[in-house]
Amino acid sequence: MTDRVAALIQKLTTTHRLTLSEYTELIQNRTPKAAAELAKRAVKVRQEIYGNTVFVRGLIEISNICKNDCLYCGIRCSNPHADRYRLTPEEILACADEGYSLGFRTFVLQGGEDPFFTDKVLCSLIGNIKEKYPDCAITLSLGERSRESYQRLFDAGADRYLLRHETANETHYRKLHPSTMSLATRMKALRDLKEIGYQVGCGFMVGSPYQTAETIAEDLKFIEEFQPDMCGIGPFIPHKDTPFAGEAAGTLELTCYLLSIVRLIHPPVLLPSTTALGTIHPSGREMGIKAGANVVMPNLSPVTVREKYELYNNKICTGEEAAEARDRLASRIRSIGYEIVTDRGDIKKERN
Ligand code: 5AD
Repeated sequence: MTDRVAALIQKLTTTHRLTLSEYTELIQNRTPKAAAELAKRAVKVRQEIYGNTVFVRGLIEISNICKNDCLYCGIRCSNPHADRYRLTPEEILACADEGYSLGFRTFVLQGGEDPFFTDKVLCSLIGNIKEKYPDCAITLSLGERSRESYQRLFDAGADRYLLRHETANETHYRKLHPSTMSLATRMKALRDLKEIGYQVGCGFMVGSPYQTAETIAEDLKFIEEFQPDMCGIGPFIPHKDTPFAGEAAGTLELTCYLLSIVRLIHPPVLLPSTTALGTIHPSGREMGIKAGANVVMPNLSPVTVREKYELYNNKICTGEEAAEARDRLASRIRSIGYEIVTDRGDIKKERN
């Protein structure tokens, strides 16, 4: 590690910010030593805020029907090979029942932009889950909706919203999305969500086509300014039925490096070690935690639909029961010195 990189890491740790060109430098000049130093510092600040706790979220993939056509995504509307499904509100409630009995206190309802899930349908579903499980948080991850819609869902009881910004660079955004979508719309949605009062998550894929050290620097600058409560960062993994089928996947190494940087930019951030990270490497999720992540999101979707919710190929945990998955995950997390807790897992703005 050069003195210059060491100085950048020191500056990031103490001021929680770098300039765009400094972020670019930190990414371009990374070495295993620099990664280890960043991870050590990221783990230290996370420990000060969250101890050795790892939060779990029960992920319920409610529909793989999507009106969008994002070039990277396996459930894009123009993929005729996707085997489409939609869970009924009753099925979703049954997933929450199972999740609650397993100790999950946050449910993430994630899905494509499926017109079936109107405000009316979702408000009633959210109301039902909240009535039955008032001690649980509900996170939505359902893409772009109007501000009025976000408000109604919030008023119905939703607590958090995940909407990855995907890339903070306009030109890059256009290369990943159809012309009907725009970075401006995405950013407006994120601002609306925050103003309404949601705990908000942004995020991006690592190694997506056309991504450069400079575009990643813009993502980091955006995170620094937006101060999200959550941030989803996982490797891009090509899906065979998309225009990006032949592209390379993002790496474990760069993903972990960025997880550490994001932890240092915004120490209290809720940072998942993603399923995509677990997919590109057998111990990817553990390595993400060791780099500074503090959230894992096991799948509570019915086993019959798990492989249909295929954003990328070879997704893990498509064949096991939720209970089994939770036990195995808990022991894997314990084996690296952390504990999964039965808790909503809200962001902690104050240090212990
Ligand atoms: N590889 C990795 N992540 C993907 N996502 C979509 N497609 C892929 C892919 N091929 C991510 C996007 C989206 C989130 C739900 O999943 O960042 O926001």
